Amino acid sequence: MPNAPIPRATLGRTGERVTRLGIGLAAVGRPAYINLGRGDDLGVERDRAAMEARAHAVLDAAWDAGIRYVDAARSYGDAEAFLGSWLRTRPTAAVESFVASKWGYEYVGGWRLDAAIHETKDHGVETFRRQWEETRGLIGDHVELYQIHSATLESGVLEDSDVHEELAQLRVDAHKRIGLSLSGPRQAETLRRALAVRVRGTPLFDTVQATWNVLEPSVGRALAEAHATGVGVIVKEALANGRLALRDDDPAFAGRAALIAAEAARLGTTPDAFALAAALSRPWVDVVLLGAATPAQVRSNAAALEVAWDGAAEGALARLAEEPEAYWARRSRLSWS
Ligand SMILES: NC(=O)c1ccc[n+]([C@@H]2O[C@H](COP(=O)([O-])OP(=O)(O)OC[C@H]3O[C@@H](n4cnc5c(N)ncnc54)[C@H](OP(=O)(O)O)[C@@H]3O)[C@@H](O)[C@H]2O)c1
Repeated sequence: MPNAPIPRATLGRTGERVTRLGIGLAAVGRPAYINLGRGDDLGVERDRAAMEARAHAVLDAAWDAGIRYVDAARSYGDAEAFLGSWLRTRPTAAVESFVASKWGYEYVGGWRLDAAIHETKDHGVETFRRQWEETRGLIGDHVELYQIHSATLESGVLEDSDVHEELAQLRVDAHKRIGLSLSGPRQAETLRRALAVRVRGTPLFDTVQATWNVLEPSVGRALAEAHATGVGVIVKEALANGRLALRDDDPAFAGRAALIAAEAARLGTTPDAFALAAALSRPWVDVVLLGAATPAQVRSNAAALEVAWDGAAEGALARLAEEPEAYWARRSRLSWS
């Protein structure tokens, strides 16, 4: 457990001083998700009451660890509702927490573990209007950052001036920050396209949320460029959906797993904290999101703040990176459980 308060960073031109660790709710807002080892950690109880209690336990553990940044999304099942009920019963957290959410993906899993499809994507202006009303109804007053969920070149949202106008209006009318999250092997290209989006001469995006981790660092250069232009940088999937907590038993991963275990041991920490420390040690990263599903994982993850990252650890990164295409192909094979 970190003794000193969690270090803070300025989230780009938003000027917001945010904690360098955030807690994401993708794993606790709905019964199923893709992270490795879920079955062991969550057991069979996945009804709404059980998941709400789990989400509150994770949020409380994050709060106790000094984390004051929360990331939700419309598609994370009832995550926004669970966050709303948590904030209503913890007035200090309601004042001190920086709350972000996302639109563009919709939860369609019917609260079933075995749903054929759990989420669908639409980045049209009608979806934005409807989902913002839904978010506003659940956590509206608390949301400070509203992000397009997994913008890609293919989704067309970066060419959609109607959406851009409405997002710019949300910033003016409701004083919300505007961001986007990325996904897939073309994150860098997508980010460079997003940085060029302007509404009446003003850059549209205040922040970017992207997958960066020691297996998939390819978006790093583009994130550094964005950060240099005043865009706040938020890292997601820093544990590669649990693979970097060494839950991946794929023989092809064994060599990398052994190197991570050795480096973590050398630094006197755990594999998950090692991987999170790698993300925290990037100078162009403001916030690293934890995807913990249990309070114990939150505490283990938060120890990343204590890791004394050094040259040898930095040197090991070159031997850990995977081909981006291979990384995302492996991710797309992760099953919902
Ligand atoms: N497109 C997007 O915008 C997008 C996509 C993904 C994530 N995100 C955001 O980023 C956040 C984090 O990403 P993520 O949850 O997808 O992935 P992640 O951080 O890469 O992985 C988190 C998972 O790692 C496992 N884990 C963590 N600590 C562990 C420990 N000490 N021991 C063993 N296993 C451990 C847990 O898996 P189990 O749950 O199986 O225990 C946990 O759910 C999300 O909550 C969300 O807010 C955004």
